[in-house]
Amino acid sequence: MREPIVDTRELTMRFGGVTAVNNVDFVLREGELRCLIGPNGAGKSTFFKCLTGQYILNADNGRVHICGVDVTGWRPYEIVRLGVGIKTQVPSVMNGLTVYENIWLSARRVRDRRGSDEETRAVLDELDLGPLSRRLVGEMSHGERQIVELGIVLAQRPQLVLLDEPAAGITGSESEKLVTLIHRINENAALIVVDHDMQFVRMLGAEITVFHQGSILIEGHADDVLSDQKVREVYVGNRAA
Ligand SMILES: Nc1ncnc2c1ncn2[C@@H]1O[C@H](COP(=O)(O)OP(=O)(O)OP(=O)(O)O)[C@@H](O)[C@H]1O
Ligand SMILES: [Mg+2]
Repeated sequence: MREPIVDTRELTMRFGGVTAVNNVDFVLREGELRCLIGPNGAGKSTFFKCLTGQYILNADNGRVHICGVDVTGWRPYEIVRLGVGIKTQVPSVMNGLTVYENIWLSARRVRDRRGSDEETRAVLDELDLGPLSRRLVGEMSHGERQIVELGIVLAQRPQLVLLDEPAAGITGSESEKLVTLIHRINENAALIVVDHDMQFVRMLGAEITVFHQGSILIEGHADDVLSDQKVREVYVGNRAA
């Protein structure tokens, strides 16, 4: 069996009286693509932030292993070095710069200038962004900007990619394109993708983990999970599963 790339044990994160992530044991293996779904406030983004060091963990938070290394208590820059890249729920592109510049600056954080030029060209190619490379990101459509954000993550060649709502505000052919790109990224990296759009989640064709009130409710194949009665119940009053 492939090695776990993410392995959390009793991962817990509280904010005052709110337990956003509650005793989560989660395993993702090398090369895997997993979707994480769950209603608003289920703890998905907080879970991501625990993996990236955005919330620095101590012994009370349980433990996180990434690539076999115990990273509990590590800072974000240390976890990035281990090969973790995240696209956050809040857009992180620089609107006043071009597509090329946005991706190059990301590459430059882990490479010299020449290496960054090469990597940027490779990423542009991989995401079919070449024709848009000189466009200012602020002038692009929302869907195009989401793909630039993938480029920013990819430019550091992470082994583990976390995408928080990459399909938010995207429809039709753009989401098909995004599915293709995510599968392409998955050829070289393990991914966890959070999204609310069930059609998009089905199109990704991955195993699904459902979060509810900070805990894992169920894991499995899309067809089983999305037709599960418990899952339908947690979405009542939220979004239809
Ligand atoms: N920094 C914070 N301070 C206090 N409470 C927080 C903080 N971040 C998240 N929470 C709370 O923790 C719970 C989980 O939030 P989180 O953002 O992880 O949910 P989510 O599953 O990503 O939701 P959504 O689908 O809306 O993005 C919510 O009750 C939220 O209000
Ligand atoms: Mg969220």
